[in-house]
Amino acid sequence: MAERRTASDGMSGLEPAAEAAALRAELDAANLAYHRDDAPLMDDAAYDARKRRLAELEAAHPDLPREDSPTGQVGAAPSEKFAKVRHAQRMLSLENAFAPEDVAEFLSRIRSFLNLGPDAPLALTAEPKIDGLSLSLRYEGGRLVQAATRGDGTTGENVTANALTIKDIPQRLDGAPEVLEVRGEVYMSHADFAALNAEGAERVFANPRNAAAGSLRQLDPAVTARRPLRFFAYGWGEVSAPLADTQSGAIARLAALGFPTTAPRLCHTLDELLGFWAETEQARATLGFDIDGVVYKVDDLGLQQRLGFRATTPRWALAHKFPAELAWTRLAGIDIQVGRTGALSPVARLDPVTVGGVVVSNATLHNEDYIAGRDSRGAPIRDGRDIRAGDWVQVYRAGDVIPKVADVDLTRRTNPEPFAFPETCPDCGSDAIREPGDSVRRCTGGLGCPAQAIEKLRHFVSRAAFDIEGLGAKQVEAFYADPELAVREPADIFTLAARDEGRLAARDGWGPRSAENLFAAIEARRHVPLARLIFALGIRHVGEVAAGTLARHYGTWDAFRDAVDAAAPAAARHRAAEEAVAAERAAAQAEGRRAALAAVRKAVWDAAPLPDGAQAAWSELVGIDGFGAVAAEALTAAFSAPAERGAIDRLLAHLTVEPAAAPQTAGSAIAGLTVVFTGTLERMTRAEAKARAEALGAKVAGSVSSKTDLLVAGPGAGSKATRAAELGVRVIDEDEWLALAQG
Ligand code: IVH
Repeated sequence: MAERRTASDGMSGLEPAAEAAALRAELDAANLAYHRDDAPLMDDAAYDARKRRLAELEAAHPDLPREDSPTGQVGAAPSEKFAKVRHAQRMLSLENAFAPEDVAEFLSRIRSFLNLGPDAPLALTAEPKIDGLSLSLRYEGGRLVQAATRGDGTTGENVTANALTIKDIPQRLDGAPEVLEVRGEVYMSHADFAALNAEGAERVFANPRNAAAGSLRQLDPAVTARRPLRFFAYGWGEVSAPLADTQSGAIARLAALGFPTTAPRLCHTLDELLGFWAETEQARATLGFDIDGVVYKVDDLGLQQRLGFRATTPRWALAHKFPAELAWTRLAGIDIQVGRTGALSPVARLDPVTVGGVVVSNATLHNEDYIAGRDSRGAPIRDGRDIRAGDWVQVYRAGDVIPKVADVDLTRRTNPEPFAFPETCPDCGSDAIREPGDSVRRCTGGLGCPAQAIEKLRHFVSRAAFDIEGLGAKQVEAFYADPELAVREPADIFTLAARDEGRLAARDGWGPRSAENLFAAIEARRHVPLARLIFALGIRHVGEVAAGTLARHYGTWDAFRDAVDAAAPAAARHRAAEEAVAAERAAAQAEGRRAALAAVRKAVWDAAPLPDGAQAAWSELVGIDGFGAVAAEALTAAFSAPAERGAIDRLLAHLTVEPAAAPQTAGSAIAGLTVVFTGTLERMTRAEAKARAEALGAKVAGSVSSKTDLLVAGPGAGSKATRAAELGVRVIDEDEWLALAQG
């Protein structure tokens, strides 16, 4: 294939390789002069212009050698360049709240989890939530040895050299525990941000947070050093000795060690928390840096520990966000995007408008009901006002989320036509239908629909799935469209090298080296952990957390697949029964009689015998805690659909699946057991007991079956205890449970 010349080629009259080599030499010399000799060879603008040009060349010609290139992240994918760091303790995010009622609910949830009465004292800290990016700093023997970004929470990027250039971050600590991981937020002040954009860095940043992120994630620490980054410490990860026994005490200790902190305020009531929120919002404009809310944390670290964590957020903290910022703009048109599971998602194309410091030109419109002005039950939203192309609409952003359209101005409406939501897939033309009770219209084309196939591939290669270096969303999309590379389904990725015959290297933007690297990266992914594989399949309702739960429950791919196959006939029966129940409910309502739901359900289940083991496999699947009938149905449906199953089986032929890792708590007395709780527990709430069991590596189920290993029965235990006795399941009381739960 002929090399396509890009617009930026040849400006210097040199061949790209020669021009890049010359630029690199100039930049290297400039770096040395600036940092080692303190005698700059050129001003920042000249330096930046050269660097920008080199980045352009490297982007257009991936073949150019680039080890140690001074280009930093410009034009390249930084996340694949930094060394990865596994966090000693996961970096989590926060649950968000917007209304005072959410904060009240947070407090009552904590009280009920801990079994504290409404008047028992409960202290919380309140502090601003800084809008930057989180950073974990690891100190050993008082020396900063590593700095890592959050990444996906488990693995981040090693940015130690860059962190060393930030003045707020101490490089040595006096009197710190032997191991101390300090966590906090890197940010840029308004003034520094304005100055940076005015002086014309490599690129203009949309807001201080992007500027801080772009500056920290520079491959060249010299660039970071020239960016005025700051740091606030708000927490910690691994510590070899406790910092204090309260959150406020620990933060005071970090302040004493030399870290800037957000000086939390201690609050004892809902009113005090809300008062802090209101005061902080008042002060927001005068702080000199961006905050997007306040954070509340339970002060007592013993209580924090008891409260523990959900999948990605602690139970003991809450982010109370400030109201979203709003702006009015014109809705130029409504596009329909087809997602991985066939969902038709309407996207608002907007005349660009600045909302909260970011230029917005797209926003989600959710689904056809939302556009029509009603909710999923048919009740009016926006007083029933629909949204049409050409309308003036109100757009808002709340934190990180995708912009949304909140309202429409009817006085400025000119379009007489309401929006007609398509009933066929705009991509493949198949019927797009709405299942009863589903607010989303879906394309029925399955993997035959190019949009769905591409979205599945994009999901498959995404970071939490196969994460193949050099094969991102853009590349799979291009490989899908290329009739020679023909990557139409995940299995095709693993046959690419064998089928390739040098085609990839000849592609525009590729070369022999980048092709070889990609093949090696693909090769490395033939071994895949079970949880990643399940997530990568992209099945509706089976996200990262559910995939992890399934992997831990079944352990191996074969056990998982066999269980899903075994459950399939019962899943179909479940669906038929639920449809019959819905029909009976509607009929009974129309006829003004009592609905005989249980009888109808039973009739469907009993209509014909199910294959051996189907019922048990189904009960086990829906009984897995945190997994329900909806996800279980989606899973069995995907495994029973011939096209989808074919793609899964073809993929598996190329993989070695690593069994799910044994829980870290393998030593605990209940690791690996399936536990059910029933009756009243007196010394621990049900929620706390469940969290504790899971932390010790047990599975908690909602109902007793032949798979149950242990029933913890408090006073008042009823049918579950009877069932356990029938099945010969071991039953223990709360005291015995507490003894086991000590670990
Ligand atoms: S505590 C385990 N405190 O907000 C919880 N986070 O939306 C750790 N953030 O990832 C977070 N200011 O990057 C905490 N005072 C503060 C914060 C704060 C900003 C960031 C942090 C976190 C994100 C969650």
